This record gives sequence, structure tokens and C-alpha cells, in this order.
Amino acid sequence: MPSLFDPVRLGPLTLRNRTIRAAAFEGMAPGHEVSDALVDYHRAVAQGGVGMTTVAYAAVAQSGLAFAHQLWLRAEALPGLRRLTDAIHAAGAKASIQLGHCGNMAKPATAGGRALAPSAKFNLYGPVWPRAMSLEDLRVVARQFGDAVRVAKDAGFDAVELHAGHGYLLSQFLSPYTNRRTDAYGGSLENRARFLREVMAQVRRAADGLALVVKMNLRDGFEGGQPLEEGVEVAKLLEQDGADALVLSGGFVSKAPMFIMRGDTIAPELARRMSPWWMKAFVSAFGEWLIPPVPYADHYFLEDACVVRREVKLPLVYVGGVASRAAADRVLAEGFDAIAMARALLREPDFVERLRREGEAGESRCDHCNHCAARIYTTSAACHHLVGRDAP
Ligand SMILES: Cc1cc2nc3c(=O)[nH]c(=O)nc-3n(C[C@H](O)[C@H](O)[C@H](O)COP(=O)(O)O)c2cc1C
Repeated sequence: MPSLFDPVRLGPLTLRNRTIRAAAFEGMAPGHEVSDALVDYHRAVAQGGVGMTTVAYAAVAQSGLAFAHQLWLRAEALPGLRRLTDAIHAAGAKASIQLGHCGNMAKPATAGGRALAPSAKFNLYGPVWPRAMSLEDLRVVARQFGDAVRVAKDAGFDAVELHAGHGYLLSQFLSPYTNRRTDAYGGSLENRARFLREVMAQVRRAADGLALVVKMNLRDGFEGGQPLEEGVEVAKLLEQDGADALVLSGGFVSKAPMFIMRGDTIAPELARRMSPWWMKAFVSAFGEWLIPPVPYADHYFLEDACVVRREVKLPLVYVGGVASRAAADRVLAEGFDAIAMARALLREPDFVERLRREGEAGESRCDHCNHCAARIYTTSAACHHLVGRDAP
């Protein structure tokens, strides 16, 4: 069994060890560009020993922006992105960036128009009433994914991570819950996966020399969503389509958000931070019903992820509830190639270094209260144990 601190190959890329900072939206890109805070955070994680750090959730186009403080992968962002990759590389880690499109979660003020989605189905989470994408929209957005990879390459990233999970646009196509189309992009899994595969063709071509990682759902986590059996089939398709590695996750932001992270619900903290008053009142009244807690357990996706492990050969990155050396070793023992961590590295950017020092005894101080995740809607992600509950 490889050790957590052995190097690992993901396609063309070799990481110095098997730890990856998972894509976790930082909320540190005001005006859609890199800030000093974003550089400082990823530098700290890289200095803290991680093999690769993933800059989260950069939109491939304006139509895919969910937040005003979110990266947008376009030429204007290049100088800041280069500063970011330089800082990560100087600390000996590799740099990845997650490519996203929020689909039915876009607000017109940020996205520059009505939200795009597979079908015109109301999204209570927004609240957003999106329009169904035309065939021309599909071609344009697929090309925008490819263009975004070229920007990432020019900026010096070593890998790109296509976000095909968690109920964002690509996952909205895969999920029978959000995809009600009756054309070649809806219905059977083959049809629902068609758009993802067209995007894969664009990003595979553009990623020439970069590692292409795809984050996908094992299952959506609610009745009527994508089940595990389909997750396994999606993993096989992505292997055929040339992914260099998969990150296996689950959950759906607009329907089963706590399935992604587990632990306490983000609802009360979200309500506390929310404005205007009517959104605050709505989230205070219905938040815990819309966002119920899901109990946390160590490596909570492991059983599902092992089903995929048996069916594909490409490198697999495990994510979800790895917050100790024992949990990391257990995951590697099941045949996974690397582990990704989000909250443990928000709590302690140098957690990997501590795992190296403390060996078997190493354990995160994160208590999965999930205040870090509640913050991202209004400000930057940060652990409240480090910054206090009201710090900007
Ligand atoms: C503050 C925060 C922001 C997140 N943002 C993203 C994101 O932008 N993209 C993504 O794929 N997952 C996101 N996630 C999910 C994490 O990448 C990860 O899948 C999840 O937190 C489970 O890993 P953990 O137990 O190591 O925290 C986020 C999680 C947190 C806590």
C-alpha cells in the first residue's frame, strides 16, 4: 500500500504526495479577479505540505457566475492568476483550478442575463426561474469550457478540474431531477451525459499537457436524483473520454446540500448573514427544513466510492470526511490514489505538515460546524475558530 507521503501520478502530472486541497469556494475574488487574500491562502496551504491545491469554482463564462466575489476565467484575470500559480509553485505544490458553471443558480445581476439550465424548472434555492438552453447555447458553453482551460494553461496551472457534480450545470444535465428535456440531451443516461461528453471533448483538446481531473457525483443524495448505479456509468464514460483522474463526491446544492459535507446545517448561520430582510426572514423560517443536517462520519463516501473503484482503472481521488491520518490511510488501503480535503485545510492550512509530524495520531481540529460554508454566500470562506464569527 502506498504511503500518504509517496508521490502519485495523475496523467501527465506527478504530485509530491497524495494530499490535495479540495476545491472549496474561497470567496476571495472581488470583481472576479485574484485578491491578495486568495494568494495568501493558497500559498499557506502549499507551504503547509499539500501535494496539489485546487483553486475553487472559477466560472468559465459570465453566464456561469453565481457570485460577485467569484473568479471568472478570462484574459483579464491572467496577471492575478499567474501571481497565484507562482506563489503555489514557489512553495513546492502543484496548482489546479476548478472550472464551473452554476447553471440554474445564476442571478441576472451577476450573470448578465437569465440563468441557463437544461430545463426551465423553478429553482427554489435561488430563487431562480432559468430558461432551457438551446442547442446553440450548448455549443457556446461547451466552447467556453475549452477557452477557460486555455486561460488556465496560460496562467501556469498544472491541472484543471471540471466540476460535474454538486448540482451545478453539468450535474444538472446528468440529474433526472433537473433535466426534463425531451431532445437528444434528456431522457436516457446516454442522453443526459451527452452535454458533459461534449464539454469533455473541448476541455480534453485544450488541456493538452495539463492533467484533466473531473469532480463528479457518486449519487445526488435524494429521491429522484442521480443514483449510484448511474454514477458508476458516468465514471466509466469519463474514463473513456480521457479524464486523468476523478474526484468522487455527491450531493446537490439546490436539493441536498448537506449531503456534500455532512455535519451541522448551515441554515442558522446563513440566515444570520443574509440580506435583504425578506431573504433573512425566509431563511430563518424555512432554512432548516430546506437544508436539514446530515450526520457526519469519517470518510462518509467510502462505501459508494469503492463501488466505482472496482469498475474503473484510472486514478481516483477520494473526498469527504478525511480529517485524520487514520482516515487517509484507510482510504488509500481501499485502492484510492490520493485524498482531497476541504474543511481540515480551512481549519489549519498546514494540516498536512502536522499529519507528517504526528503520524497515526494526526487529527484535524475541525468540528464540521460548517460555518465556513455558510460564510461563502456573503463573504470569504474561513474557519470561525480562526477569524471569529463576524470578521469580514
Ligand atoms: C467552504 C466550502 C466551500 C466549498 N466549495 C466547493 C466548491 O467550490 N466546489 C466543490 O466542488 N466543492 C466545494 N465544497 C465541497 C468540498 O470540496 C468537499 O467536497 C467537501 O467539503 C467534503 O470534504 P471535507 O470533508 O474534506 O470538507 C466546499 C466545501 C466547503 C466547506
